[in-house]
Amino acid sequence: MNILGIESTCDETSVAIVADGKKILAHLISSQAKVHSIYGGVFPEIASRYHIDRLLPLVECAMKESGLTKEEIDQIAVAEGPGLMGSLLMGITAAKTLAFAWDKPLVGVNHVKAHLYAAMMGNNTPLLFPALGVVLSGGHTFLAKVSSVTSYEIIGTTVDDAIGEAFDKVASLLSLPYPGGPEIEKLAKEGDPNRFSFKAGQIKKRPLDFSFSGIKTNVSYMLQQNPSLLNPQGKKDIAASFQKAAFVDVLKKALKAAKTFPCRAIYMGGGVTCNEELKRLFNECPFPLFTPPKELSLDNGAMIAGYAFYLKERDLHSITPFPRISSENFSCSE
Ligand code: KG4
Ligand code: ZN
Repeated sequence: MNILGIESTCDETSVAIVADGKKILAHLISSQAKVHSIYGGVFPEIASRYHIDRLLPLVECAMKESGLTKEEIDQIAVAEGPGLMGSLLMGITAAKTLAFAWDKPLVGVNHVKAHLYAAMMGNNTPLLFPALGVVLSGGHTFLAKVSSVTSYEIIGTTVDDAIGEAFDKVASLLSLPYPGGPEIEKLAKEGDPNRFSFKAGQIKKRPLDFSFSGIKTNVSYMLQQNPSLLNPQGKKDIAASFQKAAFVDVLKKALKAAKTFPCRAIYMGGGVTCNEELKRLFNECPFPLFTPPKELSLDNGAMIAGYAFYLKERDLHSITPFPRISSENFSCSE
């Protein structure tokens, strides 16, 4: 079963062709990060325009790279949410048009579930369930009980910023370019993680929920009161102390969540899982740990085409963009 997957939820345009949910026959990612870096974050209108320009050339390149003819494509898959409304519309319109023109079934994919599937797709060992899913991306942060490849229940989420968003905002306070996560990681390697005692937020009576906006405000006030900290070593120490506080919070809550059911493994997904320090911390967990390989960590079409293998085809009209994640579109079996 060869599935062509399209991802355009934010600022990456990506097209991939994956066989039987696992074997990547073609995978192209066109990132707009440089375009948006002057704005310090994604400029939604510009993101949509770049998707329009890039989607069809990427489909053509992916077909060439795979060596398949359009007759050998069995299905088209597209990320239908969550994400930026305009960006989602571009990918969905391209996917519907292809499905109609090539007469192929169409599958809508929840992009966040696909992030977790990336950790399953990239590892060749048998899958272990029930498992804890930990999604750490630019738009989402949550813990989920995963009972099968397609059955999820959210057990903890952020009440304000996503963790990747906090990395991007702290990076911007340190005058680092967008996306901030890789920049913070680089600086943190040479910084003292114990110089500043930042703390991620705790939510009363909701021990598995996250709050990252306070920690960012903390950094901001500290810099306002003491601008001289913006010297090279100060920035490194802030980056290291912030990163440690954020990751220790995620680790503590993940371990707590894993105790709420007979957890057999941890699957992690989302752009923040590119971070080596995060993986080092989680490797000390008493559970088998699965993280996506680097090329499947950030937004990508391969995880969309891969996850679609487990989903049912849908009527063209039922596939519409949903910008936000909700318990209806996430905590359900497909
Ligand atoms: O999953 P993703 O590509 O997009 C969303 O679905 O949101 O994640 C992008 C996020 C950005 O916030 C970026 O700063 C963060 O992932 N990120 C990192 C690292 N690489 C990317 N955060 C921390 N450390 C990294 N090495
Ligand atoms: Zn994503």
